[in-house]
Amino acid sequence: MPDVSKTQAYGKLILFGEHFVVYHVPALVGAVAASTTCALEVVEGGSDEGVEIIDNRPAVPNYKVKKADEGKQAVDLVLKHFAVQDKLDGKSSLKLTFGGDLCCVSGIGASAAQTVSLSRAIDQTFKLNSTEEEINQGGYEGEKGYHGTPSGIDNTAATYGGLLKFQRTEADPIFTKKEIKEPIRIVYASTGITASTTEVVGDVRSKKEADPAWFDKLLEQYKALVKKAEDAMDQGDIPLLGSLMNENHKLCQELTVSCAELDQLVETARSAGAIGAKMSGTGRGGLMLCLTPTEEIQNKVFEALEKSAPQVWKTCLQ
Ligand code: MEV
Repeated sequence: MPDVSKTQAYGKLILFGEHFVVYHVPALVGAVAASTTCALEVVEGGSDEGVEIIDNRPAVPNYKVKKADEGKQAVDLVLKHFAVQDKLDGKSSLKLTFGGDLCCVSGIGASAAQTVSLSRAIDQTFKLNSTEEEINQGGYEGEKGYHGTPSGIDNTAATYGGLLKFQRTEADPIFTKKEIKEPIRIVYASTGITASTTEVVGDVRSKKEADPAWFDKLLEQYKALVKKAEDAMDQGDIPLLGSLMNENHKLCQELTVSCAELDQLVETARSAGAIGAKMSGTGRGGLMLCLTPTEEIQNKVFEALEKSAPQVWKTCLQ
């Protein structure tokens, strides 16, 4: 059985650029410390068709039920990508146990953390000596089970961790690690609503096709914004980063991917002292995050959000 500590794959928070990143523009993403692990066992004498999945990951209510079919499909895609059935002797089956401390909630990249941790477990069990890029590729193939056209940002953050600038291209994605002066203190909170990435990404695509001029205008505004955000991050200008997050949230509202519940949590965070707040990830439910420059503000905002959000977390991106 693989050493689960070596099958870790991180959750992520998109700081800038969810949805826009699908259309080949840069985004900024940070991995959270919490991760998913996968233990893979080859069970002798089992059926060669069988894959038993034990899902011990913590999750918000409904997440696992809503994502069950997509999750099964994602696992199958990763197993197929690494041709796992060919590595078995025909008389064995697989038992996969997912765990770790990453709470599964829309927006945190739980699906990518799952597919990357599975890629790592396959690599270890069958001694494939995969490169990190090959692990990332396995995670990406699995992500297609959760939604048809993933940008690759979630699996890349799950594989490499840290803070990344990520850009999807016609060929392989381009990504670089961002070095920052100080860790970025964040509070993030769930609306309690599990969104379907397939549906929301598909709807944005339909709206873009119906009104290309509307979408292009938003995309241009976003491109100017993410450039400023990267500069602010490089210079450690946290107040500017916060106000740019607020602008990114407005663009998400115009893109129709925010919702009343997210807007309410964003307002609560700002009123409690956050210097910037936005939705993060798929939207129409899922998560919001906010920038809280000191421990004191982080605690205050956490307490305020705890009163209105079903789940709230603190993290430091570095
Ligand atoms: C989901 O975490 C982020 C989206 O931009 C989709 C993607 O990039 O694949 C909504």
